[in-house]
Amino acid sequence: MNSTSKQLDALLGPAELPALARRDLRETVCVVFDVLRATSTFATALQNGAEEIVPVGEISEALVLRKEKPDVLLGGERNGVRISANGIDFDLGNSPREYTQGKVRGKTIVSTTTNGTRALRACAGAKTVLAASFLNLSATAEFLRAGNYQNVLLVCAGTRENTALEDILAAGALCELLPGSLISDPAEATRRAFAQAKSDLVAIVVRDSENARRLLAIPELRDDVAFCLRRDACPLIAKMEADGGIRRAG
Ligand code: MLT
Repeated sequence: MNSTSKQLDALLGPAELPALARRDLRETVCVVFDVLRATSTFATALQNGAEEIVPVGEISEALVLRKEKPDVLLGGERNGVRISANGIDFDLGNSPREYTQGKVRGKTIVSTTTNGTRALRACAGAKTVLAASFLNLSATAEFLRAGNYQNVLLVCAGTRENTALEDILAAGALCELLPGSLISDPAEATRRAFAQAKSDLVAIVVRDSENARRLLAIPELRDDVAFCLRRDACPLIAKMEADGGIRRAG
């Protein structure tokens, strides 16, 4: 390993997000994972021609943006299901299968979810922010290799207050695609978790992931689990730009 080796670090869950505000991220690339389902949904929306996704933390923020720009679509979830607030039914929930070409092509989507959009917003001070998932894993790795980025922080968004197994495994899969990096203990823990689980990934997530079990218990959402675990089904880079919009890069 030489001094130009990439430094790979990881935040394993939402409890660590407040610490991000105290970190100088100006030379860091944050790669945010919310495999079930926010970042998988964003990759799918971009794959299906969405112009951009604007992640926000609160429902009230989404409603304000809709007031300012009536053409935007409102998407997201609370407790896994589509939001209705202030008499407004959001246009989309957070199932990637809803974000079809017919619905999202050329559209701007303002999205608020329980963990994913908050994790993305928490990284806003970083040099570069990427939304990653199994769907766009190799494209994300290639972007990081080609960009010769030094400091890479893998941010696992989690489920409610907890660390999410599927985010850890996706972060570990990305570590595996960046060999020769200087890897911190938390990042190494993700790499080892993936190395152990990769031969039976879907079965392990279905059995052991809190959010997978929750989605599997909702008939209209159960197919989201397998959908979000398909590797490289959306070969694109989802980059959050300085104006806060996530767009296709590269
Ligand atoms: C989240 O951001 O918390 C997840 O994406 C929630 C979900 O989609 O169920």
